[in-house]
Amino acid sequence: MILVTGGAGFIGSNFVLEWLAVSDEAVVNLDKLTYAGNLQNLASVANDARHVFVRGDIADFDLALDLLNKYKIRAVINFAAESHVDRSIHGPEDFIQTNVLGTFRLLEAVRAYWSQLADAEKSGFRFLHVSTDEVYGSLRKDDPQFTETHQYQPNSPYSASKAASDHLVRAYHHTYGLPVLTTNCSNNYGPYHFPEKLIPLCIQNALTGKPLPIYGDGQQIRDWLFVTDHCAAIRTVLAHGRVGEVYNVGGWNEKANIDVVNTLCAILDELQPRGDGKSYAEQITYVADRPGHDRRYAIDASKLERELGWKPDETFETGIRKTVQWYLGHQDWVANVVSGDYQSWVEKNYAGRNV
Ligand code: NAD
Ligand code: TYD
Repeated sequence: MILVTGGAGFIGSNFVLEWLAVSDEAVVNLDKLTYAGNLQNLASVANDARHVFVRGDIADFDLALDLLNKYKIRAVINFAAESHVDRSIHGPEDFIQTNVLGTFRLLEAVRAYWSQLADAEKSGFRFLHVSTDEVYGSLRKDDPQFTETHQYQPNSPYSASKAASDHLVRAYHHTYGLPVLTTNCSNNYGPYHFPEKLIPLCIQNALTGKPLPIYGDGQQIRDWLFVTDHCAAIRTVLAHGRVGEVYNVGGWNEKANIDVVNTLCAILDELQPRGDGKSYAEQITYVADRPGHDRRYAIDASKLERELGWKPDETFETGIRKTVQWYLGHQDWVANVVSGDYQSWVEKNYAGRNV
């Protein structure tokens, strides 16, 4: 069996659903169910005996060790994290707790389990750490894309905490020989994306007649990858990656934020036109910038393509259309996840920004 952490979140739940669709191997899913974790994402596998959901914290050493022993885990895929940059600016402590201390405790539990395995199981074991391109910092317009050897220059509490976790994973390989793999991926988008992030937030705000908030001048660039392409990359690295290596994952899809939002508006204009006949683009509103906002991220994914043969299936055009269609068809999912805590977050993040 494999152990997935954070498998009720955006990427983790997509990974679990796909894993169960393409593999016979069962999954233990350890998730704390923070505001970002949602069991509804996993409703279609609720009665599948190959999916064992456990509510718990990756920082709970005893729980992690129990699960590893009980289910004779052969690989851990660590998605669990606090993941939203704006939240890390308002309250960095949770990010240190989960991303740094949580990853450390999970590594300790894995080390204790792994070190007593028989030789064959020991060498076949994998700890795959899911990380982000944000650890590399910000690029200028004409800089080459991030390669795996780019210097770490994290600029937000989120990226600093992920950088710290990446360093711990690396150290556990070099010091203890733990068979680790690390993936650093660009911005994902697709189904089950929590509507605090740019793409689902703008789809939802458009449909509910609210402003589409663009931070600063909207010219910040992100390299967008459809979530199922990221999940396929993780499966590829897990199966064929060289132990101790880092693989960058990206979609070769650099887009300025304002262009992304204009594209969303154009698709919504076509699929669900506004009642007054005007474009959703009328709702675009420039707001105060994010402090320390990274200007550009871009991934050079050629190592993963060259060594392991992975390539994304979706272009931005196909992926973004599927995403909008998914949100239009899953308004009940959105209604459920945006209740409670989400409302107070929106108030906190957007109330102080001058329009
Ligand atoms: P998410 O915020 O949607 O989900 C995180 C999940 O982790 C939630 O289900 C949450 O309940 C769980 N979790 C949080 N703290 C936990 C803890 N202490 N113990 C157990 N579970 C806990 O995040 P996501 O967007 O799905 O990102 C998943 C991973 O991928 C993260 O490590 C993130 O850094 C990385 N990543 C994300 C992106 C992106 O664009 N979203 C890009 C590259 C890398
Ligand atoms: P986000 O989805 O939060 O991902 P990340 O910060 O990890 O890249 O944001 C994507 C980009 O969109 C980023 O440059 C910040 C910007 N953004 C806005 O302009 N307005 C918003 O309301 C949000 C949430 C993000």
